[in-house]
Amino acid sequence: MTVLEPGPGMGFFTLELARMVGPRGRVVVVDIQQKMLDTLAGRAKRAGVQDRIEARLVSGGGMGADDLAGKVDFILAFYMVHELPDREGFLAESRRALKPGGKMLLSEPVGHVTEKDFQETLDLALKAGFTIDSRPVIRRSRSAVLAI
Ligand SMILES: C[S@@+](CC[C@H](N)C(=O)[O-])C[C@H]1O[C@@H](n2cnc3c(N)ncnc32)[C@H](O)[C@@H]1O
Repeated sequence: MTVLEPGPGMGFFTLELARMVGPRGRVVVVDIQQKMLDTLAGRAKRAGVQDRIEARLVSGGGMGADDLAGKVDFILAFYMVHELPDREGFLAESRRALKPGGKMLLSEPVGHVTEKDFQETLDLALKAGFTIDSRPVIRRSRSAVLAI
């Protein structure tokens, strides 16, 4: 599988994703902070999964993921959408990246994002061409699995 993880931070989920995709899969991580990507790279090396992870530094104007259009099986957007200036653009780019049948887990922290605000993000996702697959219960989060 190919997984796209925007805003991985220090890679709390990335190492597990890299283990899950296996030696023939890849995880593309995209962040605006080089420091996060450097820490993530060190942790991936120690875990022996660095070959499955491709890190991209972006400036904040998008994920720079045009080359992945239609190639991604799963997107993990964990606790990062509320930091984006352009949620609509992000959702459109995510939609383009996914393969038919691909899914995206969107999860936002309850402390930063109200249910109303999360619902607005889901409305934008519907406008971008996603359907809401499910609303999983994740502790301290507002979460949805989006499908195309
Ligand atoms: C709160 S951290 C979440 C880290 C990780 N997903 C987790 O849950 O442990 C948010 C991350 O999103 C990144 N970020 C913020 N704006 C971004 C953007 N426009 N594109 C990519 N990453 C971004 C930040 O640099 C940070 O690493």
